[in-house]
Amino acid sequence: MKKLIVYYSRANENYTSDGIVNLEKGNTEIVAEHIKKYTDYDIFKIEQEVEYSSNYYICGEQAKADKEKNARPKLKHYLQSIDNYDEFILCYPNFWGTLPMAVFTFLEAYDFTGKTIRPLCTHEGSGLGVSVEDIKATCPSSIVKDGLAVQGSRAEFYFDKIYVWLDKSN
Ligand SMILES: Cc1cc2nc3c(=O)[nH]c(=O)nc-3n(C[C@H](O)[C@H](O)[C@H](O)COP(=O)(O)O)c2cc1C
Repeated sequence: MKKLIVYYSRANENYTSDGIVNLEKGNTEIVAEHIKKYTDYDIFKIEQEVEYSSNYYICGEQAKADKEKNARPKLKHYLQSIDNYDEFILCYPNFWGTLPMAVFTFLEAYDFTGKTIRPLCTHEGSGLGVSVEDIKATCPSSIVKDGLAVQGSRAEFYFDKIYVWLDKSN
């Protein structure tokens, strides 16, 4: 059985302790691509059909409104099936304390019964938030392993930690 890296990430304006920065590539994408290099697992990007704004503040409001509505944004692409995979390295940014709503859309699109999910959350201060609890509630028949929190703006300093965390699953 195979493992799949699944990630959600947003480029453009983002907030760091140094103020607003413009990212060519999102923090979580940098992490996911490094995991791909290290492991050679398959990889899938969760993309919303209607993207959030490139403006940080507008995006913040859009993501907050979606969370308050418990929205399930439609995705641009879906996997035909997850039958060939038994483990998912699920990488996502902390949006308002939990997963971006499009990650809920992804999790609800498939049956994760008996499958292992390993959560990796990039954030800018709140760590995993309630994301791991939310994954467990969304996929109650899956096996959700310990999550790893990575400060998004310092992701490259976490690579060693990420490799140790990944190796724990093997
Ligand atoms: C809409 C939005 C909401 C966010 N909410 C939080 C939050 O509640 N806690 C936190 O620590 N960081 C928060 N952040 C910061 C991101 O989690 C962090 O920058 C992450 O690494 C972004 O990943 P990405 O570049 O792959 O999208 C938020 C960022 C955005 C754009």
